[in-house]
Amino acid sequence: MAGEFRCNWAWLSLLWFVSVSVFAIQEADGKSIVLAREKNSTHHKQARRKLDDVGGSIDIDCGLLDVLGYTDNKTEIPYKTDSEYIDTGEDREISIEFISENLERTYRNVRSFPEGKRNCYTLRHPEGRNTVYLLRASFLYGNYDGLDQPPKFDLYIGVNKWDTITFDNASQIVIKEILHVPPMDVVHVCLLKTDKGTPFISALQMRHLHNSIYTNKSQTLALYKRLDFGSTTNEIVRFEEDAYDRIWLPYNLPHCKSLSTGLNIDSLNNAYRLPSTVMRTAVTPTNGSDPLEVQFDTGDPISKFYVYMHFAEIEELLENEQREFNITLNGKLLDGSLNYVVLRYLDLTKTIHNPQPITGPNLWFSLNKKENSTLPPILNAMEIYFEKDSYQEPTDQEDVNAIMDIKKAYTIKSWQGDPCAPMSFSWDRLDCSFNGYHAPRIIKLDLSSSNLSGTISESFSMLKSLENLDLSNNGFTGSFPDFFIHLQHLKTLNLSGNKLSGEIPLPLKERSDNGSLLLSVDGNPDLCQQAPCKEDKSTFPLHAVIAIISSLVLFIVLCILVRIIWRRKYSKKPVHLTANQPVTSHEEVVLKSSNTQFTYSQIVDITNNFEKMIGKGGSGTVYHGSLSDDTQVAVKLLSSAESCRQFQTEAELLMRVHHRNLASFLGYCNEGGHTAIIYEFMAYGNLEKCLSGSMKKLSSWKNRIQIAVDAAQGLEYLHHGCKPPIVHRDVKTSNILLNEKMQAKVADFGFSKSFSTESESHISTGVIGTFGYLDPDYYSSYRLTEKSDVYSFGIVLLELITGQRAIIKGQENTHIVNWATPFVERGDLRQIVDSRLQGDFDFGSVWKAVEAAIACVSPTSIQRPTMSYIVPELKESLEMELAREQKSRDSYGKKLKSNSSFDTHVVDLEAASGPEAR
Ligand SMILES: *[C@@H]1O[C@H](CO)[C@@H](O)[C@H](O)[C@H]1NC(C)=O
Ligand SMILES: *[C@@H]1O[C@H](CO)[C@@H](O)[C@H](O)[C@H]1NC(C)=O
Ligand SMILES: *[C@@H]1O[C@H](CO)[C@@H](O)[C@H](O)[C@H]1NC(C)=O
Ligand SMILES: *[C@@H]1O[C@H](CO)[C@@H](O)[C@H](O)[C@H]1NC(C)=O
Ligand SMILES: *[C@@H]1O[C@H](CO)[C@@H](O)[C@H](O)[C@H]1NC(C)=O
Ligand SMILES: *[C@@H]1O[C@H](CO)[C@@H](O)[C@H](O)[C@H]1NC(C)=O
Ligand SMILES: *[C@@H]1O[C@H](CO)[C@@H](O)[C@H](O)[C@H]1NC(C)=O
Repeated sequence: MAGEFRCNWAWLSLLWFVSVSVFAIQEADGKSIVLAREKNSTHHKQARRKLDDVGGSIDIDCGLLDVLGYTDNKTEIPYKTDSEYIDTGEDREISIEFISENLERTYRNVRSFPEGKRNCYTLRHPEGRNTVYLLRASFLYGNYDGLDQPPKFDLYIGVNKWDTITFDNASQIVIKEILHVPPMDVVHVCLLKTDKGTPFISALQMRHLHNSIYTNKSQTLALYKRLDFGSTTNEIVRFEEDAYDRIWLPYNLPHCKSLSTGLNIDSLNNAYRLPSTVMRTAVTPTNGSDPLEVQFDTGDPISKFYVYMHFAEIEELLENEQREFNITLNGKLLDGSLNYVVLRYLDLTKTIHNPQPITGPNLWFSLNKKENSTLPPILNAMEIYFEKDSYQEPTDQEDVNAIMDIKKAYTIKSWQGDPCAPMSFSWDRLDCSFNGYHAPRIIKLDLSSSNLSGTISESFSMLKSLENLDLSNNGFTGSFPDFFIHLQHLKTLNLSGNKLSGEIPLPLKERSDNGSLLLSVDGNPDLCQQAPCKEDKSTFPLHAVIAIISSLVLFIVLCILVRIIWRRKYSKKPVHLTANQPVTSHEEVVLKSSNTQFTYSQIVDITNNFEKMIGKGGSGTVYHGSLSDDTQVAVKLLSSAESCRQFQTEAELLMRVHHRNLASFLGYCNEGGHTAIIYEFMAYGNLEKCLSGSMKKLSSWKNRIQIAVDAAQGLEYLHHGCKPPIVHRDVKTSNILLNEKMQAKVADFGFSKSFSTESESHISTGVIGTFGYLDPDYYSSYRLTEKSDVYSFGIVLLELITGQRAIIKGQENTHIVNWATPFVERGDLRQIVDSRLQGDFDFGSVWKAVEAAIACVSPTSIQRPTMSYIVPELKESLEMELAREQKSRDSYGKKLKSNSSFDTHVVDLEAASGPEAR
């Protein structure tokens, strides 16, 4: 990511819409994963509610740039970016050839970790420690680094190994899932480098499971298989069907047939809360007298496996029919206390699991029909987990808290995850004591020569087991901290080479004197090492002289600086604009310096006795005219004396403001009660008219986005190029004029009001503006800021995109924002884009514009971006469209007929005193 990234609200809002837009464009879904979607909405709502109930679920799309995340439109899982969970690594995108319509959006980008041996996500779930969580890490390499070499690395949960991540190929999605009871309130998920490439991650999820259904507090269970038998759709089932967002893979067995029912299998009474979609299909042996057999070759003779089999009778049994069977695993009854499973139609779902773990490289399940049972066994779903050893305790919590405070105070980024464990991955610059299964403690910390400054954090004294502390050769200031006396085990303390002052606390001195503490404090010039520590006369003169001289020098430098700043500030005044000077005296005085002053009879001449009216607005009528040199102009004749004040404002402003995207002012008339302004003539008139007509040039997206860029630049100039800034206050399509080159200029400063940045905003007495474009925030608060223009510009932008009016006339008049927002939120671009564009545009380009527009029309002004942010966004949008045209030109070798000669960098307008109108 080149360029600066300024994370303020403007970007936030923009990025949010980036995210909305991107997910909307692609038809997202898993590559090998096609998600099932149950159409029954009541069921949806139930599932939805359950996940909402859980609260605090963490869904991270790793490496996502959009700060505000997005909601996956298939799974409806709201993904967040990972910025608040990790501060190392790089955002990367997978190679384009791996992106397909079915690929879930979360796989499109990854966070990769070229730096550091261990990089950790820090997850903090509101439910805290000692309760069960489902954690899921997903990986798709997708040749994001262009090396075409999938890496191999280790995944850790806390201080214990979770799994090794390997890939068969670049397009394989690897998902690891674990049920974990964290011993601490935070969970670290770490990627550890082995020597085979750079670790990366695509997505990370953490969910709270309400019941300790699968594990009791002492176990961590990793998922081996989770299978949905007899699936008729062959689709994966997960959230929202599954309230806990377990992922069920379809699975079918040889010599078996599928059974299914259309009925809803309600599992709400079963603690496992099995999704109906999974439970309403099952397998049964094709030959009714055969057993139902399932085998897995785990290749793992050591691990302890736990099996959960889920059953629901989905066939309507006749009076004399029954289904009874036993379940054996490697020849032994799965649940020793249970001889036979009996299923009844539409009874509650049943889950059978083994209380004692099973080990063995083969798991051979057999479901055997009881002799006098009339029906063969069935199996609806099954889960197998295996226990993960978690023998390593994490570092002592108090030590962790203290060292995290230190990490924060001095921003040490390389410190990640648990400080001590696993042993070979302890943080650099510290040593720990490992004492059997007990929590490791930090015993040594060496932060020497680390460019640290400020005072010494008291958190150092919270590392209660600390034996060696080296803070030498930094820039620590302040008086010698006395909290070190609390470190009972301290054997060496090195504070030399700092700028500490004051004196050494007596207890430390004693320990140093009796040899139990090795204390080094040399090289702290202001530190008193020898009692008594009052004013030491012998060193006084030198210190005093130095101090006096340096303060004198400092004072003089300060004086000079203040003078310079003072001069700059006050000599700057009339660069190109004069500040809010009252226009009290004669207009003539104010307008003396004007370009041209016309008499009323000249105006009559120019307009040929007001022959051709080209516009009528609230403040006056606009006529077409031509000067003696045949330059075409627009003459705005102000209607009433009441407008005189407006006239002054407008004339004054127009004279001072020159920009190629602002309508030029050619002269004025102020004679005998007649007030008129002469503008450049704009051949195509105003944008409102052009948009409502069937103008061919506006059926090109390129032209529209170019107009948006032009208008935005004009406004940006008013807001940020003028001193004091100018708020237009009446931005609307009818105030955006188009010249013969379709170049847009912002016009009509009649209601403009310059305001000074010092007061930031202006409380005005009356709200001025046009219905539909009016900033709701301004309307309710009377606080006028440039953001009011930004809002209105957002409306203009929406009109350009949609071709609709600000107020969409119909049975109920709908505001364009209310109309467009639902579609935008759903990512439904097609519904809003003007059909006159005939779909002939770059999707990304239009989305960028939509994002910008929606950001502009945020209800609260503080959430809106400034025009300075909007302009580059729109330019980028324009570039995307131009690139598309270029591409289609290249690929078809066709010379595109360029029906307009746009140039973003047109010559300065001041020279272009050509005739225009308004
Ligand atoms: C998801 O987005 C795609 C592309 O915009 C769209 O076709 C599809 O209908 C959306 N699905 C849902 C459920 O909204
Ligand atoms: C949803 O399921 C309920 C109960 O199973 C059923 O009554 C209802 O008709 C279903 N609705 C739809 C739209 O299928
Ligand atoms: C990649 O590996 C997966 C899992 O082994 C396999 O299903 C898939 O077919 C492979 N894809 C390619 C393109 O080789
Ligand atoms: C938890 O599981 C372990 C391992 O299976 C077992 O030894 C222990 O008794 C269980 N504790 C409870 C409270 O169920
Ligand atoms: C079913 O299996 C039994 C015993 O294995 C066998 O005798 C019978 O012929 C089989 N029936 C069919 C239809 O294959
Ligand atoms: C399971 O049931 C079958 C059929 O009834 C029987 O032959 C077998 O001995 C049973 N297995 C166990 C371990 O009870
Ligand atoms: C099956 O056997 C059990 C006892 O083993 C008996 O209670 C039940 O009635 C029998 N059912 C049939 C249909 O014979």
